[in-house]
Amino acid sequence: MNIVKTVADLRAAVARARGEGKRIGFVPTMGNLHAGHIALVKKAGQRADFVVASIFVNPLQFGPNEDLDSYPRTLAADQEKLVDAGCQLLFAPNVAEMYPHGQANQTLVHVPGVSEGLCGASRPGHFDGVSTVVSKLFNMVQPDLAVFGQKDFQQLAVIRTMVRDLNMPVQIISEPIVRAEDGLALSSRNGYLSAEERARAPALYRTLNDLRNAIAGGERDYPALVARGLAQLSQAGLRPDYLEVRNAVDLQPADAASREVAILAAAFLGKTRLLDNVLVETGADTH
Ligand code: PAF
Repeated sequence: MNIVKTVADLRAAVARARGEGKRIGFVPTMGNLHAGHIALVKKAGQRADFVVASIFVNPLQFGPNEDLDSYPRTLAADQEKLVDAGCQLLFAPNVAEMYPHGQANQTLVHVPGVSEGLCGASRPGHFDGVSTVVSKLFNMVQPDLAVFGQKDFQQLAVIRTMVRDLNMPVQIISEPIVRAEDGLALSSRNGYLSAEERARAPALYRTLNDLRNAIAGGERDYPALVARGLAQLSQAGLRPDYLEVRNAVDLQPADAASREVAILAAAFLGKTRLLDNVLVETGADTH
């Protein structure tokens, strides 16, 4: 695997692959790779001939009191995992390479609508940071396709909307959430949990699963289901940030016409913010 740290070297390496007629697949990450990331890299390898991954802990998407400084940086271990997963090129820039004119002067990409509410409400500016860095990375790599995980379901919707609205010639592919045996969605932030918190953490998925079963069983009183889920989370010792039932396509609040709904939640365990979602078909015949 070739490792590059500058945009110039990245462009040269991608141009060589393209010159050989290869289709370029891209997986942007912030590193500290786990099985969820590896599934994205492998999916890119199935759909493209040349896989590029990036590792960049993007300061623009962290709020002032968030975990930018403590976010795990494990480049050496990540490199080995990428090689095993079949990645051919790793782009690992530093902040100066990504924001040479400073973050304060950076042109921002703002995606209205889908970036509001849910994580957008709790983390002001977060999705502007994500859509800005992803559009920069897309312009640098110019991939044919890019693969994102469904765990960040709202992020996926923001990126799909950005690509559509800005006519970016990139196919967006999503991969299902990878979970630990007890159901906890894999996340780099799980490493912040103490042993006691880690034991409680699967309650988030259990709660989402209970709501999914209720909806699959015909319950449609979404506010009542949300109230039940919030109580369940609190009883399990989690501090809910939000729990919502949304239309899976446009992330608008779910209603009787929603054919597929996403049940989305974020909850704190101590200082760690866990994020998860499940999807459920309702059988509605419109929308
Ligand atoms: O999902 C992530 O890891 C990040 O938000 C992304 C897409 C790499 C942008 O920094």
